[in-house]
This record gives sequence, C-alpha cells and structure tokens, in this order.
Amino acid sequence: MDRADAAGRLAELREAIRHHDYAYYVEARPEVADSEYDALRRELSDLEAAFPELITPDSPTQRVAGQPVDTFRPVEHKVAMLSLDNATTPEDLREFEARLNRALPGTGFRYVCEPKIDGLGVALLYQDGRFVRGATRGDGRVGEEITQNLRTIRSLPMTLRGRLATIGEVEVRGEVFMPRAEFEKLNRSLEDAGETTFANPRNAAAGAVRQKDPATTARRPLDIFLYHVSEARELGFTTYAETLEALRAAGFKVNPRTEPCPTLDAVVTYCERLEAERDGLGYDADGAVIKVDSLEQQWRLGSTTHHPRWALAFKFAARQATTVVQSIDVHVGKTGTLTPVAKLEPVELAGVTIRNVSLHNEDEIRRKDIRVGDTVLIERAGDVIPYVVQVIAGKRPPDSKAFEFPRECPSCKHEVIRIPGEAYWRCPNSACPAQLKERLRHFGSRRAMDIEHLGEAVIEQLVERRLVGSFADLYRLTVGDLVELERLADKSAHNLVTAIEGSKTRGLAPLLNALGIRMVGERVAGVLASHFGSMSKVQEASVAELTEIRGIGEEIAESVRKFFDDESNAEVIRRLGVAGVAMSQPGFQADAPRPLAGQTFVLTGTLPSLTRDAARERIERLGGRVTSSVSKKTSYVVVGEAAGSKADDARRLGVTILDEATLLELLQRR
Ligand code: IVH
Repeated sequence: MDRADAAGRLAELREAIRHHDYAYYVEARPEVADSEYDALRRELSDLEAAFPELITPDSPTQRVAGQPVDTFRPVEHKVAMLSLDNATTPEDLREFEARLNRALPGTGFRYVCEPKIDGLGVALLYQDGRFVRGATRGDGRVGEEITQNLRTIRSLPMTLRGRLATIGEVEVRGEVFMPRAEFEKLNRSLEDAGETTFANPRNAAAGAVRQKDPATTARRPLDIFLYHVSEARELGFTTYAETLEALRAAGFKVNPRTEPCPTLDAVVTYCERLEAERDGLGYDADGAVIKVDSLEQQWRLGSTTHHPRWALAFKFAARQATTVVQSIDVHVGKTGTLTPVAKLEPVELAGVTIRNVSLHNEDEIRRKDIRVGDTVLIERAGDVIPYVVQVIAGKRPPDSKAFEFPRECPSCKHEVIRIPGEAYWRCPNSACPAQLKERLRHFGSRRAMDIEHLGEAVIEQLVERRLVGSFADLYRLTVGDLVELERLADKSAHNLVTAIEGSKTRGLAPLLNALGIRMVGERVAGVLASHFGSMSKVQEASVAELTEIRGIGEEIAESVRKFFDDESNAEVIRRLGVAGVAMSQPGFQADAPRPLAGQTFVLTGTLPSLTRDAARERIERLGGRVTSSVSKKTSYVVVGEAAGSKADDARRLGVTILDEATLLELLQRR
C-alpha cells in the first residue's frame, strides 16, 4: 500500500471508529459486535505503525497517548466559570421567578431543567471542529489543563459534526463524572489490591481527572454531559434548548433527562420527580439546574460575580454528612451475634436525625479503622440504612487508639466465639440475659405473637428480676407479678396480662416466626405452617423432608432440625402447649386439596379489602406461593391501588393481572 492509499484508508477507518464510538458511548446503541469493532481498531493501529507520519492528534488511537506530566499548565478561561445560586424548597424556586419578574417585568419566562451532576465542571476548546484543549474549573477564572486526560473519555468527540464543527473557535462546558457502576467496580478492585477506596464517585472522578499519567485515567472510566456553549448568543442561537440541540448534533452527550418547563409549576414538579428518581439515574446527581430558556433574557439578566442570574440549582437533601463517633457499643442479638454499633453525635441526614450506625462486625471496623473520637463520613442513600463511608483521617485526635473488639459478652461476660470463616463473634451462652431480652422482644413483636404492651422497659425488668427465663414463663405471669415492676400501673399490668392471653390463638405461622429459629423469619414460618399444619409435624420433619419443600434450602432445613433437636427448646414448646398456646394452623387440613400448588403470585399495591398478609395467607392455604418479583414464570400478578413497576413488569412479560375481586373469585372457586 502506498502512502496515498494508506491516507485514504486511515481516514475511512477513523471515521468508522468515530461512528461506532458515538453509537456505543453516547447513544448506548452499538451497531456492530465487539469483535468487528476490535478488528477496525487493530487495522488502524497497524496502519499507523507502518505510516507514523500520518498519525493525527484526533485519531482514535491517540485517546490514550502523550507523556505523563509533572504539573498541569494553568489555563485562563475565555469567560469566567461561575457557580450557581442555590434553592432547597419550592418557595425558593418561586422566589427565583419573582426575582426574574422584578428584573424583567412583564416578559414571562420559560425554563429548561436538567440534573445537576455531582462531578467536575470542565471547559473544552474546539478549533475548526477539533478538540484542542480541556481545563478544570479551578477558581473559575484560571483552571488547569487536563487535555490528555479528557481525551480518554470515550463519549467525548475529538472532532465535531454539524454546525459547531464549522466555527473557528468554540468553548463548550460540561460535567465529568464517574458512573456509579464503574465507581463500585473501581472500589472493589482497589479494595482487592489493598489500596484506599474512594468515598464517592465524585472523589473518584476528581482523582482520575488529575492523574499525571493519562494511561491511569484511561483505566478509570469517566463520562461527560455537556450543558453549555460559551457565547452561544453571539453564535446566533436564540434559546438554550436550541443550543443543547446543537451540542447533541455535534456528537456530544447531552443529559436525556433535560426537559423544557414552560411554567414554574412544571419546574417544581420536575425537581420533585427527579429527586424521587435520583437512585435510578446511574450517576450521582445532587440537584436539578433550572435555566431561563431565552438567551436574549439570559443576556439581559446577566451575572453577579458569583453566579448567573438566569440559572438556579435546586439542591436535593444531602445524603452524606460528617459527625463524631462518641462511643462504640456492642449489641447482643437474639441468637447471640455481637454487633458493634457506633453512637454518634446526632446529625441530620436526608430528613432524619442519625444517632447510631451499625459497624457490622470486627473486620469492618478494622478495615475502615474506625475509632472512638474519629470524625466519620456517613451516608444514607435511598432506602439504604445509614453507614460509615470512611474516617476523615485528618481529624483524628492524636491520642486515639484502635478499637479492641471484646472477647467476652458485654451482657453475661461469657467468653465469645468466632467460628473460622464466619464474620461474627457470638455469645454461646443460651441463658445470656441480653439474648433472652432480644428473643422476648422478637417474640412479642407485631409480626410474631403481637403482644401489645410488652415493651423494652418491661422486658428489661422481667429478665433482670428473673420473672421470665423463657417464652413459656410469659404465660404464667400474673397481674400481681407485674404491678411489682417499676412504672407499671395496675391498669397497664392488666392490659399486659390480657394481651399475653390473647396471643395464645395467633396460630402456627406467627408462633414459628416468634421462636427466633435461625434463618426462619416470617416467610419461612409461613411456608412451614402451611405445609405441615401443626407444631408436632414440624418438630418431627427430617432434613430430607424439609428440603423437599419449595423455598426451603439445606441451610434452613438444618437450622430448623438443630433447633428442635435441642432439649431445652423442645421443653419450652411443650410448656407453651400446656399453657394453651395454639400449636396448629387455623383451617389446616392435612389432606385438604391444594388446587393452587405450583402457581406463583406477586402482590403489588394496596388491595381494597384484604391486607397483604391476609391475601398471602389465603393463597398459601390453597398451596400457592407468593413471591416478590415478577418473572415470565409468575402465574398471576395481583394489582391494587398505587401499584408500582411490578404491574408494568407483568404487562411487559404478558403475565395475567388480577384485581382483588378476581383474586377472591379464583380463591372461592377452588
Ligand atoms: S450550569 C453558567 N448545569 O455545578 C452555567 N452546572 O454549583 C453554570 N453542574 O460549576 C453551570 N451539573 O460544574 C450547570 N446541568 C448543569 C450542571 C452544572 C453540574 C456544576 C457546574 C457548576 C456547579 C455549580
């Protein structure tokens, strides 16, 4: 191949690769198989190796190229990179519009809203459609040149298309971020390598962007959304929406959640919806940005030295905060598991006050090196329970000492054990008062024996005064015993005795749950009760018989067997029976027809008359199974009021949908 042919082929290859990069990284709609793409890249680099003088800086092979740098060169921004004014409530949003109306009376405003990405703002310079320089925001006036590192972002075009490609020099701005999935992958590999992990995707992205060697940046997958063209009005654009369209047409990634909002009400709705949906975005957004759409209005409104007057950031509730660990206490669970819990200086996080946070186990404390007196970063995302992300190393008191996990039970002082391979230390003393208290609390809880008035303070005294040493003892308590307790009036003592009496008829499923058998919660208890019908049948079942039941695995079966093989447990159950606690499942008949056997149901939304538990109970009584997620194998999805995505899943997968009336009919017919 001569030089001219090579040049032609190189141009073709580069164009094809750019096209596929766009389809894959920007649109997430790949058009060719990975192998086909790899072949194009191989041909390109082979040909460039043969004709090195034909390598161009915007060639796809040059994304990860160039020498490591010692320092980043300063770059003065053409137009200062300003910050944004903040809002936290809908009232703040309305005040924003009131300000606009005062500045430009009688004109009326339309807006565009988009996610506020929790990343790093960057400014990118293109000359004649080619990427020539990229810089961080810095102090807003002068940033640092990070061109080589930005080249590694595969969704960032090195050459532009459309109208923006024809402009001699254009500066665009956007936000570099690390997608959450990539962040988790990165942290996992850092952890495996014994290196320090990043607290959040933003820090990881900041670290990646400031790598001295672009090859390192390339291994930390970043992405970028563009949201700004400097001097757009001078370039002839009239609205922000139109500017975004030009960015998209140039090959940039523009946030798909960007929406025009013709009124402030639409803005408020947008902000609320985005906040509710923030966990599904795939990247961290810390708010929404509201921008006046008309560039003429933007120009007339102008900026303060700090922020443009035509834009506003609506900040979502914070999910991370720092606070101080006041102490680390060790709690004993109902099966003897020891859980360390950090008592924190109370701190407000995403709308709730956090006072305690579980540290899970000894290894977790050691891994994060959490100590009393430390300032810690805590996070509470979505429905996730709060946890310690990391210790703020710089704020550690000089005299702090590593936490030593106790080798004896904090309650009964019995030596604790840790089975090799298990994460938890356990107190092996089955008479341990802390375990007994936890077991009693669980026994009386709503989804177990549902004993009202059996609160923590009462349990505490019942155990300390040795009035109760097992579940069965509860049923021997008299009003006389109870009035002796502190802060328990006559009436309350009566109420408690009545409540305990009333719990005798709960039935087998709640009783099995109440016993606190390891791995037997509400679901498994329900399965066992509807399969066996009586306590004695459950007690007699072998591991083999148990594992034959759908939804019961080896581990659960062994745990059940172990529980009933224990003499003292068998004795407690015998005494519960003598006390008159019901030991069978109401309505159970051993050879009752099980017409729904093999059928699975998913319940979603609120049904008009049946509670979730009642519906489940009736389905299970006829042999059906209730599961939590919809698949093609699901027989029916029962849909009630305010049903969520499960109803959509059912429609998508073609699963039969029932309302309550049809469900009742189905249950009746069988
Ligand atoms: S607009 C003049 N839009 O938030 C325009 N900024 O707190 C000002 N940011 O410095 C920026 N997502 O780095 C804009 N969709 C978005 C954004 C966004 C994140 C960052 C940006 C800015 C900072 C201000």
